[in-house]
Amino acid sequence: MCGIVAYFGNKPAQPILIEGLKRLEYRGYDSAGIALLENGTFQVTKSPGRISNLEEMLAGRHSPATLGIGHTRWATHGRPNQVNAHPHVDCTGKIAVVHNGIIENYATLKKWLLKEGCTFLSETDTEVVANLIGYFYQRNQNRNGQLAPHGCNRFEWAVQQALSEIYGTYGLAILCADCPNVLIGAKKGSPLILGVGKNEFLIASDAAAIVKHTTQAIYLADGEMVIVDSGGFQTKTLSNEQVQKELKEIEISLDQIELEGFRHYMEKEIAEQPTALETCLNGRVDLKNGRIILGGISNYLRELTRAKRIILTACGTAWHAALVGEFLFEQLARIPAEVEYASEFRYRNPILEEGTVVIAISQSGETADTLAAVEQAKERGALVLGIVNVVGSSIARLTDAGVYLRVGPEIGVASTKAFTAQVAVLAMLAIELGRRRHLSTDTVQNLLQELTSIPQKIKRILRQSEAIRQIADANKDRENWLFLGRGFNYPVALEGALKLKEISYIHAEGLPAAEMKHGPIALITDKMPAVFIATRCSQYEKIIGNIEEVRARGGKTIVVATEGDEQIKPYADYLIPIPETCEPLQPMLTVVPLQMLAYHAAVLRGHDVDKPRNLAKSVTVE
Ligand code: G6P
Repeated sequence: MCGIVAYFGNKPAQPILIEGLKRLEYRGYDSAGIALLENGTFQVTKSPGRISNLEEMLAGRHSPATLGIGHTRWATHGRPNQVNAHPHVDCTGKIAVVHNGIIENYATLKKWLLKEGCTFLSETDTEVVANLIGYFYQRNQNRNGQLAPHGCNRFEWAVQQALSEIYGTYGLAILCADCPNVLIGAKKGSPLILGVGKNEFLIASDAAAIVKHTTQAIYLADGEMVIVDSGGFQTKTLSNEQVQKELKEIEISLDQIELEGFRHYMEKEIAEQPTALETCLNGRVDLKNGRIILGGISNYLRELTRAKRIILTACGTAWHAALVGEFLFEQLARIPAEVEYASEFRYRNPILEEGTVVIAISQSGETADTLAAVEQAKERGALVLGIVNVVGSSIARLTDAGVYLRVGPEIGVASTKAFTAQVAVLAMLAIELGRRRHLSTDTVQNLLQELTSIPQKIKRILRQSEAIRQIADANKDRENWLFLGRGFNYPVALEGALKLKEISYIHAEGLPAAEMKHGPIALITDKMPAVFIATRCSQYEKIIGNIEEVRARGGKTIVVATEGDEQIKPYADYLIPIPETCEPLQPMLTVVPLQMLAYHAAVLRGHDVDKPRNLAKSVTVE
C-alpha cells in the first residue's frame, strides 16, 4: 500500500503533488510528505496523519520548484510519525526517495551501510533504499569493479546498482539533488504508472493521481524503470536494456473520482450500484438467445465447462464474493468449487490436479497475497482466470484471461459496488457454465431475466436509506453485533459483519445461522443486536427457527426480509424489506441494506467512513 506521486514539468510541483496525494489517500493515511528540488537542495516537508496536516504545514509556502515527489503512508516498518514519513533522503543529502512496498533484506543492507559510514534517521526500510542509491552514487565503480558513468547517468546507474541488491517489492520515485532535470521511477511488485502530458510527466501508484493532468499513460512492468528528463522519457529494464512501452489511454475520468455532492465515497459507491451493475451486465447478458457473452474468457470456455474443480481465491470482501461464487458454481453449474484465502493458499503447497481452474477475485488487482496465489497457481500449470476491477492491474495482466467488473474506480476503503459486481460476474459465469452443462433453456431464461432486474431492485432498496439510518441510530451504541444468514446469504452475513467492523469499529461476527447454537448463542443478550438475512428461500423456515432461538433469549433482531412477507413481522424488532429475486441472485440485494446499515452507524458514531483507522484500500504487502 502507500501511495506515491511525482511531478516533472514546467508548473509548480507542490500543489500538483498535494492534489495527487489526496487522490491516493485511500492507499494509506498514516503520514504524508513531499520533497521539492529547489536550487540543488531538497525541501522536505512531512507530517504524521492525513494529507490535510501536511497541507497545514505547507500553508503560505509557494515553492517555485517544478520537480518533486510525494507520498502517503500505510505504516509497515516503523511507527507512523514524522521521522518515518516519506520522502527519505540519504545521509549525503543527494538522493530523495518515496516508496510503496517492502524491502525484505533491509536489515542486512542497513547493517552493511552503517559499517560503510552511512547514518540513518528513521526506522523504515525505505531509508535503506535512499542510502544504498546514495552509496553507489558516491562510488566510482560497482562491486564488480565496473566503472561508474559520469553526470546524471551516474544517478541512473546508482539506482540500477542499488536495486540489484534489494529483495522485496517496490514502486519508487527517486530524485537526485545534482540532477534538477531527472526523475526516475522503478517498479517491482507494486504498481507504477507514468502519465505523459504536454511537457510534463507524472509518476504515480495509480491513474487517479494523474488523470487531471493527462489521460495518456505507460504502465511499467515488474523489473522496469523509467527515466524522465528534459528530452522526454525512456523505459528500461533494471539491467539497463531499453524497452518500448505502449502509450495507453487511462480509462477513468475525473468525475468518477469526485464526490459529486455525496458526503463520502462509500455513500456514493453504494448509491452507484444500480448503474455500476448495469454497466457490468451490459452486452454480456444476451436475453434474446438465452446466453451470456464474456469476451475476455471466450477462448477458455471449453476448458471451464469441463473443469473438474474450481478454486476461488481472494482476500477481504472479494473473498466473501468468492464464497457466493462457490454456491453459484455448485448449484447452477454443478462443478465442485472451493474457496481459499489467498494468503493461505500461497503457502499451503496446494494440490492442483488436471482439470482444476483457479479464479482470482480482486477489486484492485494489486493485493499482494492474491497476486502471489495467482503466481503459485500458474507455476503449477492451472488455468488461472481473474475477476478484477482495475484495468491493466497486476492480477489482470498476470492471469491467463479474465472478466473486468466495469464499475469504475472504487475509492471508499470499505468495498461495496465491487462486491455486488463480483457476484454479478460470478453469477454470469455460473449461469453460462450451467447452460453449457445441464440447465434447461427455461431455467437459464428465468435466471437471465432476474439478473437484468437486479439494478432496478437495488434502486428500490436505496430509497430506504432514512429507515435504515434510524435502525442504525437506535443500535449504534451496541458494541457487539451478530450477522446471520444461511445458504447463499451466509457469505452476505460475513460481509455485513465486515462492513460494520471496518468503518464503525463495532465488534461484529458473521455466521451461518445454524452455527450460532454451537457457541455464539452464549453471547446473546438484549444488548446484542442480531441481524438476520431471512428472505424467502429454501431455508426460510430454518432461519425463522434461528430467529426464535435468539428472541427466546431476549435478543433484539434486525431482519432483512422479502417485501410483502407478513409471516416474518412478529420476529423482527426492526424490519428491512427488500424486493424478491431468485435465491442464487439474492446476495446482490441482501448485501445492500447491510452496507447502508454500516455506513449510517459509522457516520452516526462520527467516524471517517472513507478512511477507517489502520486500514488501506489496496494491500500490496503480505
Ligand atoms: C483490503 C480492503 C478490502 C478488500 C481487500 C481485498 O483489505 O480494505 O476492502 O476487500 O483488501 O482487496 P482486493 O483489491 O484484492 O479486492
